[in-house]
Amino acid sequence: MAGLKVGRGAHAPAFLVMDVIAAANARAAAIPPGEPGILRMEVGQPGTGAPRGAAEAAIRALRDGHPMGYTEAFGLRSLRERIAARYRDHYGAAIPAERIAVTVGASGAFPLAFLSAFDTGDRVAMAAPYYPPYANILTALGMVPQLLPCDASTRFQPTVAMLEALDPRPAGLIVASPCNPAGTMLAPDELAAIARWCEAKGVRLISDEIYHGLSYGMAEETAAAHSASAIVVNSFSKYFSMTGWRVGWLVLPEDLVRPVERLAQNLFISAPHVAQVAAEAAMDCTEELEANRAAYRRSRDLLLAGLPAAGFDRIAAADGAFYIWADIGQLTNDSPAFCARMLAEAGIAATPGVDFDPGRGARFLRFSYCGPEADMAEAPERLRRWLRP
Ligand SMILES: Cc1ncc(COP(=O)(O)O)c(C=O)c1O
Repeated sequence: MAGLKVGRGAHAPAFLVMDVIAAANARAAAIPPGEPGILRMEVGQPGTGAPRGAAEAAIRALRDGHPMGYTEAFGLRSLRERIAARYRDHYGAAIPAERIAVTVGASGAFPLAFLSAFDTGDRVAMAAPYYPPYANILTALGMVPQLLPCDASTRFQPTVAMLEALDPRPAGLIVASPCNPAGTMLAPDELAAIARWCEAKGVRLISDEIYHGLSYGMAEETAAAHSASAIVVNSFSKYFSMTGWRVGWLVLPEDLVRPVERLAQNLFISAPHVAQVAAEAAMDCTEELEANRAAYRRSRDLLLAGLPAAGFDRIAAADGAFYIWADIGQLTNDSPAFCARMLAEAGIAATPGVDFDPGRGARFLRFSYCGPEADMAEAPERLRRWLRP
């Protein structure tokens, strides 16, 4: 065994939120019946499950004996056309179905995007805090994440001025609006300015639009409407509430369509066939999906009203997704220990910020509000009793 090589990818850091979920599961299992349960504010997935029409379409197809073989690497033609129609209807953007690639979730889209656009050693910029797999996948592929420390003054989002200051200029930029963990958005004109800057400077823009559909006031804009060279990532996991079905998509610039198709053929063959059938049907389930969104909005409003009195009064603008990013620097400089105590003593699970921002995350935490509304209504008072008894 001596001297056997272990590859660079084997050193990718764990996605720590998974450890927090495991700790909350263990704690929940140990609670005697009749005692108050754990309020789960660490999870980043809708509790609602796939819309009924999506599940029924999958059941129907299986009952009809559909063989569910591989699809083309870019997915079912009918689904790609449906996604293209969404760009027309939702954003007024004309995107031909040929530029849509159906992927194995947004997670499956990232390696396709990164490998087609960048080389080993290339720098790719992103705001910090950020969704950890961006940096971890880039690192595993030999690319170099370049963090742009952001704060509340820019809604935890990058600006053109920050990009101008980068020397050397990166090969790429990842933006997300709404973003995880901060739940903040870029205003449409800011996204447009960033997209124009990237195009003018030869920086490949990757726009993660996975939380589109879950915003509470600010207009959503797609980077595809402002740049012919941007790569857009999206998914059925969040608004469409279909995490485990593993279907996402890319909007590709013309120059990357064939390269990404070749990569997708080799890396994944195709996204799961039955899940693509369900995803297409989900696009007709607007009433159910809008009811989910309305519930998130009510949960968000309950937390924004109650958290300050509980001691969490430095919170990022909760523009979208289902996250609240709280600066807890006045309470701790060790967010993992703080979250562990909060779980043990208040029975509330939240995610420490270190996962999302290695530099400053020790004084931040992320509350997720995609759990049951009743839990979100109860959380502020429980926190208040814990912190201000
Ligand atoms: C910002 C962001 N991008 C991508 C993903 C991955 O989503 P998917 O389930 O589509 O792989 C997530 C999941 O939490 C996310 O928060």
